[in-house]
Amino acid sequence: APARDLAGRHVVVSSGGTREPLDPVRFLGNASSGRQGAALAARALARGARVTYVRAHTEVPDPAGAHVVPVSTALQLRDAVLTAAAGQGAQTGADAVVMAAAVADFRPAAPSETKIKKSEADESAPVVELVRNPDVLAGLVEARREGRVASTTVLVGFAAETGDATGSVLEHGRLKAVRKGADLLVVNEVGGGRAFGTADNTVVIIGADGTERAVGPAPKESIADAVWDAVVMRVPAENPG
Ligand code: C5P
Repeated sequence: APARDLAGRHVVVSSGGTREPLDPVRFLGNASSGRQGAALAARALARGARVTYVRAHTEVPDPAGAHVVPVSTALQLRDAVLTAAAGQGAQTGADAVVMAAAVADFRPAAPSETKIKKSEADESAPVVELVRNPDVLAGLVEARREGRVASTTVLVGFAAETGDATGSVLEHGRLKAVRKGADLLVVNEVGGGRAFGTADNTVVIIGADGTERAVGPAPKESIADAVWDAVVMRVPAENPG
């Protein structure tokens, strides 16, 4: 039987890919399957947590027993995550938030209310203007600094990195861990069929305190357990309630 080391805890997991509408039937999306997010929610449930699963578009079923909050766009995901993290009414805030969702960085500035049509007269194509979406993880860090989210809430980000001329995957990950202000950053290498849509994953879990733990190649459930291990070490023993 798994350790019930998250019993009495409330954790929030975001999962899947957002969709940013271009018109009523088209969107800008991404290749996130939601498998890592679903595995994180499932393992947290198995370890005794109450789980709020803020789920954008996924290819996998929702883990049974999670409180599912379905969302589509980045703005909806931001609102749902911040509400669940802060707590509302009788609901307590979160002991941890894991941002496994692939959140669009940009959205169409002015989605069309009607289906965009091809010109009958010529071969022209529309130009779509994009605007920035908020960074949800950065918003959580700020909310915690301002006291809207409890100071004890552990914040975890994921980062899909590719190595390039300016540095390795790990070097990019270390810099991003510091820049993002989260407590933990789970870095995985993408490209060449790695990570997206696959059952296995290879990651390094980087702590803001300088700790690093490499995990995998391993099933996304094992990656999830390693993430919760790192979270459990950082959650205060006394539940702040
Ligand atoms: O900076 P980068 O997009 O690589 O960071 C990825 C992390 O930030 C993930 O945890 C993702 O869920 C989160 N993110 C976010 N809001 C965005 C983009 C990414 O919270 N608009």
